[in-house]
Amino acid sequence: MSINTLLNNQNLQTYIDESSVNLSPITMELFEHAKSDEYSHMLSSPNQIQMISLIIKMLNAKQILEVGVFRGFGTLAMAEALSDDGKIYACDINDSFIKPYIKYWEKANVKDKVQLYIAPALETLEKLQKDGIKLDFIYIDADKENYINYYEESLKLLNQGGVIAIDNVLWSGKVADKNHIDSQTETIRKLNSIIHNDSRVDACIIPIGDGVNLLRKR
Ligand SMILES: C[S@@+](CC[C@H](N)C(=O)[O-])C[C@H]1O[C@@H](n2cnc3c(N)ncnc32)[C@H](O)[C@@H]1O
Repeated sequence: MSINTLLNNQNLQTYIDESSVNLSPITMELFEHAKSDEYSHMLSSPNQIQMISLIIKMLNAKQILEVGVFRGFGTLAMAEALSDDGKIYACDINDSFIKPYIKYWEKANVKDKVQLYIAPALETLEKLQKDGIKLDFIYIDADKENYINYYEESLKLLNQGGVIAIDNVLWSGKVADKNHIDSQTETIRKLNSIIHNDSRVDACIIPIGDGVNLLRKR
């Protein structure tokens, strides 16, 4: 079941997934379909989405955002974790990834909770700000080059006490290897450093999936 994990012990990852992941059957149906489809390496890992769903429930979040939808796996799990009056703003630049998968949102009866924006995410974040939207939770999982911009713009949209989860912050371990000086690795290193020194947030890097930087706005 596990993909995109930093854990070297596959047996242990399987144990974690089997003992922890409790996503709905429709969400797992979407995941299994996407796992056998193209670009499956872009899927979030199930136990990471399990953690994110739990955080949404702990916060009793009403308004949330996902930056980077892909097949809508995380979107569906997050929509299910929201209360009936909750809303998830979901943005991606490419609608060909999600189009064949929207049927799972319909099957799970959550399509009305999802507002999908197909545009560069920075444009969508600007639009949400202009519309006066305030958010309780944001999941950032899109192009790494824009991660620092997404962080800054997301902070503006977030309520005090709101939470941001940023995916891929350990970047397959490359962030800790000085030999990797490509722009994506450098951007992620810089973002982790900004967050670590940012008096606006409390934060912690969690070694789940490809690494999640979890932070709360003070
Ligand atoms: C890693 S996938 C997201 C995985 C998804 N969160 C999940 O739960 O499985 C990254 C997505 O970001 C999207 N993306 C890349 N650049 C973008 C941009 N500038 N604006 C919006 N979305 C973008 C890609 O099209 C892709 O679908």
